[in-house]
Amino acid sequence: MYEANYSEVTQFVFLGLATYRPVQNFLLAFSTVFYVTIVLGNLLVVFTVTFDPYLHSPMYFLLANLSFIDLCLSTLTVPKMISDLHSGHKTISFQGCVIQIFVLHVLGGSEMVLLVAMALDRYVAICKPLHYLTIMSSQMCILLLSGAWAIGLIHSVAQLAFVVHLPFCGPNEIDSFYCDLPWFIKLACTDTYRMEFMVTANSGFISMGTFILLLISYIFILVTVWKRSSGGLSKAFSTLSAHITVVILFFGPCIFVYVWPFPTVSVDKFLAILDFMITPILNPIIYTLRNKDMKMAMKRLHSEVLNLRMIS
Ligand SMILES: *[C@@H]1O[C@H](CO)[C@@H](O)[C@H](O)[C@H]1NC(C)=O
Repeated sequence: MYEANYSEVTQFVFLGLATYRPVQNFLLAFSTVFYVTIVLGNLLVVFTVTFDPYLHSPMYFLLANLSFIDLCLSTLTVPKMISDLHSGHKTISFQGCVIQIFVLHVLGGSEMVLLVAMALDRYVAICKPLHYLTIMSSQMCILLLSGAWAIGLIHSVAQLAFVVHLPFCGPNEIDSFYCDLPWFIKLACTDTYRMEFMVTANSGFISMGTFILLLISYIFILVTVWKRSSGGLSKAFSTLSAHITVVILFFGPCIFVYVWPFPTVSVDKFLAILDFMITPILNPIIYTLRNKDMKMAMKRLHSEVLNLRMIS
């Protein structure tokens, strides 16, 4: 009998998004510009909501938290990708890979629950406006937020507990630019069928479940608005359609990667760009920069900063 040598694989090699140098240079420029925009845009949202007293309402607190998670999600993968593209040195240690998977699932799980919380917030605001302040109290906000983080954490721990002891002895190339379960599991030298099922059951279920829940709540809100007045429908629809777009862009790749964890074509790594570079940019634009109150708050903040500079 062979006793597998578990410690043989100490690092993984990313194959990255492209091997052709000009394409790599394009990706390098593209992801650098996007990452800087993501950091500035989301920090702007967090600071504006934190420092403007007029924005201390449940909706904006949830938004700021969403921006914070988006920022972390990008930071988890994009800077490493940029530095790999820059240096051509595309390795990650075994521990680094496991940590990346763990944090990725904590953040991803929390973001999904947070999106549901935000839909709930819009539902109460639009369908039960008179009870908005009593239902969406600050306790409720904190409850939703801690719920989101707790679910993300439990989801991630539950998944990693299965895979952290898998034996790795053979190939160590990951056909992507970051570590995630489908690729990680594929490299283990053991029968991965049960692991595949476990990923589908856990990550797949969470992504599909929250996606369907979100679609149902948006349809519910639209129907309620439509019943009340046909004039309000177009306004509600224009707001909600932006939310629905982001939701589809965010959940599409997740569902593709986790519900069919072992696809035959490797488009999943390109789809991941949507989650790490596109939705983190769209969220601040759609939820906040198009929002009148938010724009006013930014103007106020800007003039306060100017005043401070004049005083000092
Ligand atoms: C998240 O929301 C809580 C309250 O609901 C708020 O106190 C906190 O500042 C928010 N976090 C960020 C990063 O804005």
